[in-house]
Amino acid sequence: MTEFDTVIRNGTIATASDTFEADIGISEGKIQAIARNLPNGVKTIDAKNMLVLPGGVDGHCHLDQPTTDGSVCADDFYTGTVAAAFGGTTTVIPFACQFRGQAMQTAVDDYHLKASGKAIVDYAFHLIVSDPTETTLSVDLPRLIGEGYTSFKIYMTYDDMKLNDKQIIQLLSVARKHGALAMIHAENTDLIAWLTETLLASGHTEPRYHAASRPMLVEREATHRAISIAELADVPILIVHVSGREAVEQIHWAQGRGLRIYAETCPQYITLTEADLAKPGFEGAKCICSPPPRDFQNQSVIWDGLASGIFQIFSSDHAPFRYKSETGKMLKGDETPFNWIPNGLPGIETRLPILFSEGVKKGRISLQKFVELTATNPAKMYGLHPRKGSISIGSDADLIVFDPELRRIIRSEKLHHNVDYSPYEGMAVDGWPVTVLSRGEVLIENNELLAKPGRGQFLPCLKPDMARPKVI
Ligand code: URP
Ligand code: ZN
Ligand code: ZN
Repeated sequence: MTEFDTVIRNGTIATASDTFEADIGISEGKIQAIARNLPNGVKTIDAKNMLVLPGGVDGHCHLDQPTTDGSVCADDFYTGTVAAAFGGTTTVIPFACQFRGQAMQTAVDDYHLKASGKAIVDYAFHLIVSDPTETTLSVDLPRLIGEGYTSFKIYMTYDDMKLNDKQIIQLLSVARKHGALAMIHAENTDLIAWLTETLLASGHTEPRYHAASRPMLVEREATHRAISIAELADVPILIVHVSGREAVEQIHWAQGRGLRIYAETCPQYITLTEADLAKPGFEGAKCICSPPPRDFQNQSVIWDGLASGIFQIFSSDHAPFRYKSETGKMLKGDETPFNWIPNGLPGIETRLPILFSEGVKKGRISLQKFVELTATNPAKMYGLHPRKGSISIGSDADLIVFDPELRRIIRSEKLHHNVDYSPYEGMAVDGWPVTVLSRGEVLIENNELLAKPGRGQFLPCLKPDMARPKVI
C-alpha cells in the first residue's frame, strides 16, 4: 500500500448515522481508507479524545452581497470563509443576488469575481431572483440550473426583492420543471409595512420595535401561503430561517399532509429573544434580523423541531453588518430608526459550537442529528452529497477534529469575521474544532490559519434528489 498523504488516527468518527472508532487515510484530497490501525501518513494527526466529523456545510450565509440601501456586507469571501473554517465549516453557499433590471447571469458573473482569489473553503452559489422577467424564467434560470446553480431564494418581503404570489408560482413552476429547490423567506410584506408605519407614526423608532413590526403572525401567514403555492405547483420548497411556534405549526401540518416542505432554522432562534432587541441605547440593533428572535417558549419549539425532524438543516444566516458604522447598523447614525437598520447577524464561525454546546452537550439532540443538520443534510439538499457532508470512501477529505471538552467564551475580538461585535458575546460554549481540513489540506491547526486565499473551489451543484425526501 502506498503511503497516505495524511492519516487522522485514534479519533471517534461521527456521521449522520454512526459513531465509531477508526483512523482515516487521505490521499489526493479524498478519503481513501477508514479502518483501525492504519499506518502513519506523510502527516499524521492524533485525534485521541477528539471527535472527527464531516466539515460543516453552511447552506445559508451572505458574503460580499451587494445591497441597495448604502449598507455594506462586512465579510468578503476571504474573511467570511476564514471565519467559517475556524468554526468548522468547510463549504459555504452564499447568494448571487439579482437586482431588479439586472440579468441573472450578470449577478452570477459578478459574484464569481468576488469569490475567486479569496475563498479558502469550497463554495457553491444559491441565486436570489428579484426580477423574474420572461427571459429570466424561460431562458436564464433553466440554463443556470443546468450549469449547477440548482437553488434560488424567493423573498416575500423587503421592498427591493419581494415577489408577489403570481411571480412566486411562476418561479416554482420553473423549479419543478428543471429540478431546482426554492428557498422561501416567508413574511407578509404588506402587514409589516402597515405595522411599521403605525409604529413610526407613534414615535416608536428604537430597535425593539423591529420585533413589534414583524410578529409571528406575519411569518405564519406567509409560511402558510408559501406552502399553498408550493402545493399548487406540486414542488418541494424550503422555508428558511424559521423563528418559532407559529411557522413550525404550519410546516408540521404540511409535512403531515405529505407535502415536501423542508425547513431551516438558525442559531439566533435557539439563543436570542426579543428582549435582546430591547437592550439599553442602540445595543438592540446588534440582534436585528428577520424574522426576529422570539421568546424562550418559542426556542423550546425550535429545539423540539430540530430533534424530531421538522427541520432538516441548521444554517448560520450569517449576514454581517458592522455595529459602529454608517454602512452597518448605524446607517443613519446611532438613532437609526428600526426600519432602516440593516437586517442580519454575524454567526458563521459560531454555528457549530453553539449547536453542539446547546444541543448535544445539553442532551437536546444526538450527535448524529448534529452532523445531519450541520453537514450531511445541507449537502444532500443542495446537491453536493456525497462529495461533501460525508465521511465515506471517495468523499472529499473535508474533516474537522473537534474537541468536545474545549470551553470557549465567545468574544467578537477572538472571532475571525470582519464585524465589530457578536450577538453571542460572553456566551460560554463547550466544544470547538481544533483542526480543520478541506480536500485533505490542513486549513487550521493550533489555532493558526495555514490556508492561502483563493484555494477554495467553486462547486457546481447537482439537482437535489427530491423524489425521496425521507432520505433527507
Ligand atoms: O435578517 C436577515 N435574515 N438578514 C439576512 C437576509 C435574509 O433575509 O436572509
Ligand atoms: Zn431571508
Ligand atoms: Zn439570509
